[in-house]
Amino acid sequence: MAQLWKGRFKKELAKETNDFNSSIGFDSRMFEEDINGSVAHAQMLGDAGIIAKSESEKITAELKKILEDIKSGVLEIDLNAEDIHTFIEGELTERLGQTGKRLHTARSRNDQVALDIRLYLRKEIDAVSDMIKGLVSVLCDKAQENAETIMPGYTHLQRAQPITFGHHLMAYVSMLCRDIDRLADVKRRMNICPLGSGALAGTTYPIDRDETAELLGFDGVSLNSLDGVSDRDFCIELASALSIIMVHLSRFSEEIIMWCSWEFKFIELDDAFSTGSSIMPQKKNPDIAELVRGKSGRVFGDLTTLLTVMKGIALAYNKDMQEDKEAIFDAVDTVKMCLTAFTPMIDTMTVLKDNMRNAAAKGFINATDCADYLVAKGLPFRDAYKATGELVALCIDKGLTLETLGIDEYKKICELFDEGVYDAISLEKCVAGRKAIGGPCVQSVKAQIKAARKFIEK
Ligand code: ARG
Repeated sequence: MAQLWKGRFKKELAKETNDFNSSIGFDSRMFEEDINGSVAHAQMLGDAGIIAKSESEKITAELKKILEDIKSGVLEIDLNAEDIHTFIEGELTERLGQTGKRLHTARSRNDQVALDIRLYLRKEIDAVSDMIKGLVSVLCDKAQENAETIMPGYTHLQRAQPITFGHHLMAYVSMLCRDIDRLADVKRRMNICPLGSGALAGTTYPIDRDETAELLGFDGVSLNSLDGVSDRDFCIELASALSIIMVHLSRFSEEIIMWCSWEFKFIELDDAFSTGSSIMPQKKNPDIAELVRGKSGRVFGDLTTLLTVMKGIALAYNKDMQEDKEAIFDAVDTVKMCLTAFTPMIDTMTVLKDNMRNAAAKGFINATDCADYLVAKGLPFRDAYKATGELVALCIDKGLTLETLGIDEYKKICELFDEGVYDAISLEKCVAGRKAIGGPCVQSVKAQIKAARKFIEK
């Protein structure tokens, strides 16, 4: 396919140069956005009297046909073209002759590509956001079912205090809701139209930037032509929001992997979301969760690529910036792929409530509550803490738990103890007592679920 920039050049581009220079292999996915942008541009050119109305109409009609033809497979994208912009304009000119050549009036590929990426990513942001909402919804259902499922809460991966599985899951919901919010924020700043920035210095034609911006559903126009073509903050911001999503999915995956182990056995993954070993017949591996954890590295890499590509280039457009697309597209694709597998994996897992309850009963996770019991009887917390510490040491010595230690032993360490202690340290009581906003008690978990459901519906 012919280059757009014939005229100054006497020789054809070397094949190696073309292969190296071309971006169509990865920017062809923006064909619809490129065409929609051109339709708006052509309409504006006609409305502003920059080209004849009749020509503008011919161009927009033909562009829409090209879109249909690509979608239906009648027209194949030529991978020898320099990029998707070149291909569409070339196709239009082939079909319309002279009229097709008028489309690029008052425009550069620099503002065109800046426009296309925004149009493409803004749609992808909605897709990712919807997928996260799907995961949040599944987690809310699971949390509802497990609002009373007692499990040990951990710090330092040591059993710490009693919580419920529902409360634990809702922690991820809090993170994921912030992720949705972050994506909306990125989209808000992204949704500004750069078209009209030209190559770098705007244009002398009497274009109407507000018209194209409005036609394309933007909230406004960029206010500096150099920035309009050079800004890729929106890619970096999106890659960063996607990286944070991957941090959350990766931590969650790590827990899934642990919970599946024989050492924990808190959950069982559905066979449809587990894999076996080629040699060890007994194995059932949490590969999906491991892959999600692993793929976080790709997305962080994409963010690093974008930061590095942008950090040293003088204003305005430089070809380095063509490297933005593979990185940001990979980040978006990866996150979508992870969510596609992750959500049904969570949805179909079996929660082994008894195993969680047993683990909760064995780690002295009610020790804080035991100390609090003494505080309620008037002892200063530090003294109560020390007395309980001695009780724990005694239990470990005797192979007992705080529940099974006799009341006489309690009294030997502190005479304030009476039979009431057993009720105070029951795990159900310990959880139920944590009533403050954000705590693990049933009412709090239900309030969290309600708030999250409301958040994803709006
Ligand atoms: N394929 C190019 C890109 O993705 C389009 C812009 C080309 N502009 C230029 N001046 N060479 O960045």
